[in-house]
Amino acid sequence: MAEKSKGEYMGRELAEGPDAVTRTIREAVDQVKAAASLLKELEANGVKRGYVIGSGTSFHASLFLQHLFSKYTDFHLAAVPASEFTEWRPAKGKYFIIGYSQSGESSDIVEAFNVARTMGVKTIAITNTFGSTLSRISDAAIVTRAGEEKAVAATKTFDVQLAAALALVYTLTGKVFSEIERASEAAREVLAKKNLLREVAERYVKAEHAFSLGRGAGYPIALEAALKLKEAAMVHAEGFAVREFLHGPLQLVDEGTPVFLFAPSRASFEASIKALERIAGYKAPIILVGPKASEFKDYASYSLEVTGAGEDANVIPLVKVAQVFAFYISVLKGLDPDKPTKLSKVVKY
Ligand code: AGP
Repeated sequence: MAEKSKGEYMGRELAEGPDAVTRTIREAVDQVKAAASLLKELEANGVKRGYVIGSGTSFHASLFLQHLFSKYTDFHLAAVPASEFTEWRPAKGKYFIIGYSQSGESSDIVEAFNVARTMGVKTIAITNTFGSTLSRISDAAIVTRAGEEKAVAATKTFDVQLAAALALVYTLTGKVFSEIERASEAAREVLAKKNLLREVAERYVKAEHAFSLGRGAGYPIALEAALKLKEAAMVHAEGFAVREFLHGPLQLVDEGTPVFLFAPSRASFEASIKALERIAGYKAPIILVGPKASEFKDYASYSLEVTGAGEDANVIPLVKVAQVFAFYISVLKGLDPDKPTKLSKVVKY
């Protein structure tokens, strides 16, 4: 059998994301409805407080779900890393848990769900694996339809986690899914521009440090972009909420430190202008990603247009830019993003 080439899995899987998103919202619709019914039942019984937990990429999806719940529902949902849940859960009162795990097997989240079960807490799992432990021990399960993911770095499974968040909140609030379909199309358009992203990656392949910033729905994407650069491309990258960056990390920028801004809307760029001015003042190369990015090109070394969906669903094409960029940095460095040397696909230890 021919040996697999470096990055073969990650390259293929990130390109499968748009199809995985449309498949998920079409095929998992009944599971999404069942999860929404359980939440409505809890709400009717006075349980409006919940926690959404996950690890790594799945924690970033959790943050996005918290953002959507705060923006559109009356629930109070807090995102907590799965491994920290037992330390942060409330001592009193009723609550529910939503758990994100693509494998459905990470020990941190399985343990948190097991503890919750013994206490009679209702649980909803969002996983990419049929029959996984998490889906079996939960009261309701949404199984996303990305198919098996072999690369250690999650790409298409994050896309579907975002889609599941949107689908759940749209179902709770009576909205149709057309925006998610548009987002998947917009992610396809990002993939069609991959040569341009490769050129940007060539320019920054030597950078040892990088930052990624985002605001609102763009914040979890900024965190995810930094994680992809770390695990796939061995770049020391950190993600921050845009204006949090001014409260300390700004000290570290210089002309060799690329700074990405992931903006899900034009308004998000506008709200970031003062921060961009400060960062540009220290000659850091700025890469803007989002709709209408070119209107703000005076602040940036690159402005990468992402179009197609509304502010919330735009996270799907935004993160595609981050995934493709990390992939190219990795392969240009001669690394294998499919198998970072110190990581395993599922953390069970
Ligand atoms: C993702 O790129 C990482 N490899 C990692 O952070 C992963 O998301 C995390 O270990 C959680 O895995 P799970 O979703 O299978 O629980």
